This record gives sequence, C-alpha cells and structure tokens, in this order.
Amino acid sequence: MIYTVTFNPALDYTLRLDNLTAGRIHRTAEESFYAGGKGINVSNVLTQLDIPNIALGFIAGFTGDEIERLVNILGIKPEFIRMPAGNSRVNVKIRSADGAETDINARGCNIDADSLNQFYTKIGDLKSKDYLILSGSIPNSLPSDIYETILQKLSTKSVNCVVDATGALLRNTLKYAPFLIKPNKEELGELFNETVQDDDDIIRLARILQKEGARNVLVSKGAEGAVLLTETGIYMKAPPAHGTTVNTVGAGDSMVAGFLAGWSLYGDYQKALLLGTASGAATAFCENIARKDEIKNIYDALTKKTKSQKGEE
Ligand SMILES: Nc1ncnc2c1ncn2[C@@H]1O[C@H](COP(=O)(O)OP(=O)(O)OP(=O)(O)O)[C@@H](O)[C@H]1O
Ligand SMILES: [Mg+2]
Repeated sequence: MIYTVTFNPALDYTLRLDNLTAGRIHRTAEESFYAGGKGINVSNVLTQLDIPNIALGFIAGFTGDEIERLVNILGIKPEFIRMPAGNSRVNVKIRSADGAETDINARGCNIDADSLNQFYTKIGDLKSKDYLILSGSIPNSLPSDIYETILQKLSTKSVNCVVDATGALLRNTLKYAPFLIKPNKEELGELFNETVQDDDDIIRLARILQKEGARNVLVSKGAEGAVLLTETGIYMKAPPAHGTTVNTVGAGDSMVAGFLAGWSLYGDYQKALLLGTASGAATAFCENIARKDEIKNIYDALTKKTKSQKGEE
C-alpha cells in the first residue's frame, strides 16, 4: 500500500474577482473549495492513475470534516487523525483578472501530543514493501526532526520512504536510505550552495546525495523536464512536455505520484520517469490538479518522442 502524509491539510478557498485593491470591498465572480495539501495532491494523482493509496494526516473541527468529505469525493481513502480541538485551516487564494495570484495561507492548528502518538501508532502498522510519502515543510507545532524520526522508526521494516522536502529536512533523512527523493533543480543547488547549470551538474550532485544514502534521485526541472539517477547507478533524462502552462502549483507532487504509479505498474525506471514527467506537466497545463486523460495523452506523446530519439521507430 502507498501512504501519503499531510500534516497540515487546508480547505483551499479560491476566489475569482476583477481586481484586488487593498482596503476595498470586492465582489467575486466565482468561488470554489478544494482539499489542499501536498500529500493530498499526491493521493489525488495516484487515485487518478488507479493506484490504491491511503491519505494520512491530521484534521480538526468543521473545516476538517469538509476536507475529509472533499477527499472522499476525489475517491481517495483518508485515514486522518481527528484532533480534539481547533479547526483545520482555510487558505484563501485570490485570482484576479490581471492574472495576479494572491494567497493567504493560514497557520493551522497545533498537533497535540496524543494525536501525534496516534499517528506514530498508525505508521507503526506499515508493512515491508509499503510506501510512505513525506512531502513539504513541517508545521511549527511538530518537532523539526520529525521526518528523520519517522524514517528511523520504519528503517527496520524495509518500508520504502519518499521524501520531497528541502534543505536540512531532506538531508537529515538520507542516512535512512529513502527510496526516492525529488528535489527540483533550485532545491538541489541550495543543498550544495551552488547554482546548477546543466544536466552534468545535476548528475554530479545527485551522485553525492546517493553516497549519503538516497536510493533513487529524481530532479525536476519545471518546463525543461527531469533527470533520474537510479539506485542501479544509471541516469536517464525525460524530455519536456509541450503545452500551455496554466498553474504549476502541485506539479512536483503530481510528478512524485506519477513516478510511483509508473514504478508500481511497470517496475521500470524509464516508464516511471515518463509517467512522473507527464503527471507534473498535466498539472502545470490545467487550473488545478491533473486528471487521468490529460496525463495519459502526455505520457503517450513523451513515450513516442523518447522512442524516436532512441531510433526505435
Ligand atoms: N511549465 C511546465 N511545462 C511542462 N512541464 C512542467 C511544467 N512545470 C512542471 N512540469 C513538469 O512537472 C515536473 C515537476 O515540476 P517542478 O520542477 O516545477 O516541481 P516543483 O518545483 O517541485 O513543484 P512544486 O511547486 O509542486 O513543489 C517537471 O519535472 C515537469 O515534468
Ligand atoms: Mg516541490
């Protein structure tokens, strides 16, 4: 089973309006609610690709109920821990006609010690060969070394952990040999305090992260595609997908989901890389998170492109 974790899920409230002016009253042209959070995005794309998964995390209050309801509508199976006090946060996303995007992200409620213990008990039930995906930053109410703690707890069970995080949060997990890490190009550079110029730089730095313990290193390059260094020591590149970029939020989460879906379905690095790249692109090319058909079309186009580059067609 694949498990995702969203420590601080949000009810995203997206408002469309003409122009935003501070200090004025505005009327919206359209408004909608979504369940937000990096782990939920990963679960969403896995579900689109028919890969069973369970969304773990913490919810509270009436907003938490609504997040759970929306997650269920997406077809995702949630096993959230319900906290006794507070409300899950509402993040307000204002989209104005001039294309400007103004986001107000709330802090979220504190995760109490008892709820955190319930979470540790839950992940204690994970079995060998399960996958656990940890994405994004850690809320202030949790210990800053929680990713390390989780990987350490699971290290004796050969659970495959995926870490999509930045800086020390990512680096400190490497000694527990995560199955996959997915820094983007800038995040990779930040880890080494250098500017990544080209694929040679990516491969050189990814090899260092492997020496520190990472098994597979997937480096995303936004509109330029991605590079994968596998635990078998080979590297492969995914060509960029072509389309009109609409909203890139969640592209990284979609790529992680697509990669794992491809790996579970085919056990093949090249296919996993292309499905990951296609899923990221499909999300970048739409308003919200990618749907199955869009992913499939882009995956087929990328597969064709890659075959013709190799002279197979
Ligand atoms: N504008 C784009 N055009 C085509 N493909 C894209 C675009 N943006 C993202 N992608 C695809 O999605 C993948 C992940 O995107 P990106 O490198 O932006 O991840 P990220 O920076 O981790 O994103 P996030 O903001 O979700 O954390 C890319 O490797 C690429 O395959
Ligand atoms: Mg990212």
